[in-house]
Amino acid sequence: MALINPSILSADFSRLAEEARAVEGADWLHVDVMDNHFVPNLTLGVPVVESLSRATDTPLDLHLMIEDPDRWAPRYVEAGAGSVTFHAEAAAAPVRLAREIRAQGARASMALKPATPIEPYEDLLPELDMVLIMTVEPGFGGQAFLDIMLPKIRRTRELISRHGLQMWLQVDGGVSASTIERCAEAGADVFVAGSAVYGADDPAKAVRELREQAVA
Ligand code: DX5
Ligand code: ZN
Repeated sequence: MALINPSILSADFSRLAEEARAVEGADWLHVDVMDNHFVPNLTLGVPVVESLSRATDTPLDLHLMIEDPDRWAPRYVEAGAGSVTFHAEAAAAPVRLAREIRAQGARASMALKPATPIEPYEDLLPELDMVLIMTVEPGFGGQAFLDIMLPKIRRTRELISRHGLQMWLQVDGGVSASTIERCAEAGADVFVAGSAVYGADDPAKAVRELREQAVA
């Protein structure tokens, strides 16, 4: 299985509904929420997610790069998100938060910045539907893929297998035609791609090609 989640961070924000439709056939639409505190960039919030969820049938994969996700994540489920990812570095009570997101009927996911190891979170894995291993420093699209994250992807996949879990392993940052196969080989099965999709002449075709490469 390989899921391709285009990131609208690389889309034209003045035409979000159209840009969402330009990648119909994608598995999820990845929505990057940044608050200019957790990361040095600012994007969008709850009202935009509400509008976007009405504008597309593609489920929304929210990536919260914000402080205080304990307070905000449930608001994004109410706004229409099918999956909500909070950062391990920002959550005060990750288990309680994951349970709350799941109780609301959405998928709960936790992200790790490049310098954050997976091992301290091993016991949390059964509480989650997905782990996101960042392959760039969060904050901006179009950055170069960090090869040195491949061993962490591999170790995370091993932990998931060891616990017999069915959860997804997402990678985000610098995922493209030239890096996706290495991510898949290391054990990732959900791939976020911003510039590689929205920078292409035909974004829907870019999604199909990435999916083929990921399962090759
Ligand atoms: C970066 C975001 C990513 C970003 C990826 O902090 O989390 O989702 O959109 O963009 P690319 O695929 O261009 O690296
Ligand atoms: Zn993201």
